[in-house]
Order: sequence, then C-alpha cells, then structure tokens
Amino acid sequence: MTTTERSTGTDPIESALATGPNGDDVNSKVPFNMKDGLHVPSERYYSREFFELEKKKLWPHVWQMAAREEEIPNPGDFTEYEIIGQSLLIVRQVDGSVKALHNVCRHRATELGSGCGRFPGNQIVCPFHGWRWKTDGSISHIFGREGFAKETVQPENLALHEARCESWGGHIWINLDNDAPPLREALFPAADILTRSGVDNMRVKWWKEAVINCNWKLAQEAFFEGWHVKQTHPQLYTYVDESDSEINKQNVAYTPFVNGHGRFQSGDSREGYGGKPDFLKAAKLNQQGQDAMTLERDIHVFESVAGNMDTSDPAYTAKAINALFEYWEGAGIEGPSKTPEVMKLWGGDIHLFPNYLMLPMYANSLCYRVRPHNDDPEWCRFEVWSLTTYPKSAEPTRAVLSGRFDKDDADHWGLIPRQDFANLERMQRGIKNQSLSETTLAELWEVTIANMHQELDRRLAADY
Ligand code: FES
Ligand SMILES: [Fe+2]
Repeated sequence: MTTTERSTGTDPIESALATGPNGDDVNSKVPFNMKDGLHVPSERYYSREFFELEKKKLWPHVWQMAAREEEIPNPGDFTEYEIIGQSLLIVRQVDGSVKALHNVCRHRATELGSGCGRFPGNQIVCPFHGWRWKTDGSISHIFGREGFAKETVQPENLALHEARCESWGGHIWINLDNDAPPLREALFPAADILTRSGVDNMRVKWWKEAVINCNWKLAQEAFFEGWHVKQTHPQLYTYVDESDSEINKQNVAYTPFVNGHGRFQSGDSREGYGGKPDFLKAAKLNQQGQDAMTLERDIHVFESVAGNMDTSDPAYTAKAINALFEYWEGAGIEGPSKTPEVMKLWGGDIHLFPNYLMLPMYANSLCYRVRPHNDDPEWCRFEVWSLTTYPKSAEPTRAVLSGRFDKDDADHWGLIPRQDFANLERMQRGIKNQSLSETTLAELWEVTIANMHQELDRRLAADY
C-alpha cells in the first residue's frame, strides 16, 4: 500500500491484498513449489520430504489456534494441544490469564496431562514419581531430591518451558517461536474482519472431531470456495437461474489477503446473503444439514415473520433479517452491527493461515481446524465447532469435545459435513494417481487456495 492510498483513507483491510506468485528467491528453496497461481503440484499433499519441511519450517513458527477460552473457564483448568508429536498444556492461571506449558516432566519425560481436565490445588503432578509444579510452571516439589546430584535439581532449572500464548476472538493461540511477530499482526486482516462480525461474543455450542485419510491442506481447501455446492450439496443449490448463482462473479467475491489469509463472500451485486429464491427454505436446509451457521432459534425468528408472505420475495428476506436484529436486542444477545460489511460475509468464509476457518453468519459461526494426524502426511484431524452468541446470563460453563466420530456417522454428523467428508478421501487417493502431476485451480474461485500455498512456500523458504 502506498502512502497516498493511506492518506486518502483507503480501507486498510480491503487494501491488504496478497502479492501473488513468489519469485525464484523463494521457489528455488522449496521442493514441489507453486510456480504459478494456477497449479498445485500433487506431492505437496503426500510427499514425506514436503511434510518434513512443514514440520521444520511451518508448525514451529506459526500462530496456531490451540483452544477456545471456554475450554478452561476456571483456574487450574487445562486442555492439551498437540501438533505432530509436540504437546502443550494450555492452563488457566490463578489470575485468570492463560499459559501454554510444554507437556513434559523435566525428570524422565513423562507427559504430565492429556486431553482436558483440572489440576487440583493448582498443582501439576507427574504421574510417574510425583514431582510437582504450580500451574504457572514453577517447580514446587522434587520428590526424592536427596537422591540426585545437587546441581541437577536446581529449582530454577526445573520450571516447565513456556510457549508464546495470546488470545483473540475467544480463541487461545500458541506459537513455539519466541521471535514470531505478535498474534494480531500475523492474523491481519482476517481477525479484524471477524471481530467486526461479532466473533468475540460467540461461545461453543458443540465441538466434534473426525480423523480423515486426507492431507491437512487438501481437506481444508474443500471449504475455501462455495462453488462446489452445486455438485456436492445439490439440496442447497436453490438458484433458479445462473445469473443469481455462485458462478456469477458479481455475486461472489474471492479475496486473497496478505499473510496467507483468504475470504469469500457476497459480491457487489448483492447487499448481503439472501439472494436465493426461497430464503426460508434455504435457511431450514442449512440448519437441518449442519446445526451451525443457521440455528433453530434463527428459524423460529424467520418463521415468526413469514405470515402469508412469499418466502422467496426479497421483501420477506429483508423483514426476516430485520426481525433477527430485533430478536437479539430483545434477548440481550450482543450480535454484530447491521452493516453491509458484516452481512456480505454471511454465507461466505474466512481462512486464517495456516489451518483455521470461520464461517460467521448471523450471531453464529461454523469453524474448522485441520491439522496433521500423528506424523502422517496423508491423515488429518478435522475438528468442527458450532459457535453462537448467548445472552450473557445464559452462557454455557465449559466447552468439551463431544467426541471423535467416523466421517460417515449420520448420528453425529449432519448431511452437509458428510457430503464434504465424502470427497476428501477420494481426493487423497486421486492425488497419487500416476496420470496426474498437479491439480488445476480456477483463477476466479480457487485463488485463495493458491494464496495459502504461496504463503506456505514463503514460510518453507524462510531462514529461521
Ligand atoms: S518422570 Fe516425572 S517425576 Fe519422574
Ligand atoms: Fe461443502
């Protein structure tokens, strides 16, 4: 951005555009690099060499969404965050702040906590020989100290090691690199857009996980565009003519931002989400299909103003949306402001580099976090959250993972995620087909996939 643009009041968010393909300085250092913005070499999704480079250059240096604040509401509460064999305990401190502590006993390397829980008395106790730490990581008891050489058990050397830890948007983020830029700098402008959408006030309604035989990048990229809806989710495709469809470029805008972040949302020809022929029908299909983004309470509001109106009439859509804002006001729900910037994003999504997505809609959001499973380039842990904004007095107490469910489990996954998951393992098998060396991206609606890979290459080429 030039100084002139800044002084004339250009929106810093909308001006924070990515610069496109990398030059030789980056590409020469990265195997299977992104030569242009139109193709993705297949090896990026299965090569051990590429995966090892991600382990060395990406994960130890990037901000990662490690937990929701409401996973650890009270002092002593902890939750574990694991990334390819590195485990951290995210621990609520006595003063309400949060620390991320490396999850390993300084004696014989036993992991100190797993899953989530509470450290009673704010003491972390090693299950093997009983050494103890305060929840701030300082050592409080060395059992059998007299049996050790004195210089090996100096308290100042036995504190649990800390990782960087910052909060934004109701999420706790960690970074294993002490020299990394501050969180908000790294999340710009994605976090700023989401803050405007009211995500700070949202809390977990439910949280589930699937383990999928698919590379973490390939899996998340299936959510970077709305263009797959017509084929993958035919029940949601309610457009009557193509001029109103996702493939009309006036209707949907795909924006690659700096720092590898991306967004898609309604384009300039639409004021906000709701250009579909039957707004109420589309809202119900969304609610029934995933219990996220559109929730039952929203359907009640929309139904309450339908009366005898034609629910495909844009006048009905406007009335239904107005009713939603009124409902929030009456119920004491701190929803987002009624601005075009906020409403355009409803039905679209934001990708926060490297591996987190938010799809804010109304006072809700669907969220995805995708990371490698164990040490395998071809498997991922795919987590899904449904967030919503509760009246302050009715906020839930503690968020817990409701479980890890098979990707086909119709009792635990709605139709929409099952339709998406069904593509992922097929893609992972296809990506190794000998007749294909790279996949091809649409310039128009897969540009944020290219942008994510280009940022990844810059990370992999960096001299940390
Ligand atoms: S391994 Fe932890 S106290 Fe011995
Ligand atoms: Fe989908």
